[in-house]
This record gives sequence, C-alpha cells and structure tokens, in this order.
Amino acid sequence: MPLSGTLFLYPRILPGCWQLNCIFDALMAKKIIITIDGWSSCGKSTLAKQLAKELGYVYVDSGAMYRAITLYFLRNNIDLEEKKEVQQALKDINLEFVFNPKTNESEIVLNDENVEYLVRDMLVAEKVSDVAAIREVREFAVAQQQRMGNKKGIVMDGRDIGTVVFPKAELKIFMTADNAIRVQRRFKELYEKNPNITIEEVKNNLEMRDYIDSHREVSPLRQAKDALVLDNTALTPAQQLKKALEWAKAELQG
Ligand code: DC
Repeated sequence: MPLSGTLFLYPRILPGCWQLNCIFDALMAKKIIITIDGWSSCGKSTLAKQLAKELGYVYVDSGAMYRAITLYFLRNNIDLEEKKEVQQALKDINLEFVFNPKTNESEIVLNDENVEYLVRDMLVAEKVSDVAAIREVREFAVAQQQRMGNKKGIVMDGRDIGTVVFPKAELKIFMTADNAIRVQRRFKELYEKNPNITIEEVKNNLEMRDYIDSHREVSPLRQAKDALVLDNTALTPAQQLKKALEWAKAELQG
C-alpha cells in the first residue's frame, strides 16, 4: 500500500504533529463571518485587519463605503434632503476595494479613483453620519456588503454589521473604549496628516458622530444581543487580538 494510503487509513497512530496539522487545516477550512461593531475610534479597524490577516480572511471597512459616498455627495453638491437627487447620485457611484501591495491593505475606490486617503479627511468626517443616516444610502451599501460576505471568510467592521448586514454571523464583537482614550487615539491619527487639528475638534466630531449613529431611525448603532463585548481601554493591540482570536477559534472548533 502506498504511504499516502497508510496515512489516510491510520491517522491515529501517526506522530502528534501530523494530527495537529490536520486539525489546524480542518479548522481553517471552515469559514465564518466575523462582525465588529462599536463606537467611532475604538479600534475596530485595527482589530478587524489583524484578525483577517491571522485567519487569512477578507477585511471590509464598511465605514469607508459611507465615507466614499459622502465624498461623492460633497463633490457633487448633493442635497441630502432631496430624495430623488440622492437616488440618482447613488446610481452614479461605483465602489470597490482594491488590494494595495505597498501597504498590504485593501483600499476604497470610488468610480475608478483610489480615495482611501481622501475619505479620512475632516470635511468628510463632519458629514458622513448625516449621509449614513439616509435610508437609500444604507440600502445601497448594505446590499453590496451582504454580497461581499456570501462566501464567508470575512471580517467586516462598522455600526450595523452584526445587527443588520449579517444578523446570522457566527462571531459578533462589540467594541467599546473609554471616551478620553478614543479622542486621544483619533487625535494622534489625524494630527499626523494635519498638524492644525485641535483636540477639541476631534472630541466634538466623535461625540456628534456617536450621537447621530446611535440615534438615527434606520439601523442605529446597537449591540447585537449575541455579541461579545470587547472593552479595549486598557488593552494593547496584541492583547485585543489574542482575545478575539480565542473567540474565533472557539467558534471554528464548535
Ligand atoms: O468607521 P468609520 O468611522 O470610518 O465610519 C464612518 C461613519 O460611517 C460613521 O460615523 C458611521 C457610518 N457607518 C455606519 O453608519 N454604518 C456602518 N456599517 C459603518 C459606518
């Protein structure tokens, strides 16, 4: 009998490392959907990117989609009160994520233009929550997000991913962090791009976005009933990844 046949028939008597590899491969073969929701600037995208990398999953930044739509609306002076204008504008928007080998990350592309950097601008941040509160905008974005998850093996972060986009996701994480810490983190990130920014501006913007995101009529930010809460106020990125990976592995083994 060829060796491979022996291996196949008698895996239990083989050295432990072979069996462990088998178990690991079997775990990795099962694909799940992981959703990460939570308040602005509490580290959702950092964790989502790390998790996706560790598991070999696709990462989708749903906030970038709302930001790109906002950028398009700003550039084209779309009146958010005019439903028809909004609907027409959405027909003219094509969103994609493309992998950038230089940064090793996927970036948002709006109508063939890479806008990954532009959508992080304060002008966009000031308007994005109003745009994301529009029913038609959400329907447009959610339909695309659901398509991206149809093969599973995806980590998506946002505000309504575990409640609306993938209510049946196998692992839902809800992230929180102390307000002052969130402001500090966002300030540090924005200051690198724009040294004129003040901490007050960042604080006001975060508070405003949290308020609008959690009080809007359509898909407000909510913790899904079956979400696991991850408060990362006192955690390093490595510590939060360890915790989330434990949850993911438990789910993959279950
Ligand atoms: O995650 P972020 O800060 O890049 O998101 C930008 C805005 O988009 C945020 O203020 C709320 C909105 N958003 C949303 O309403 N639903 C999502 N799934 C993701 C983001």
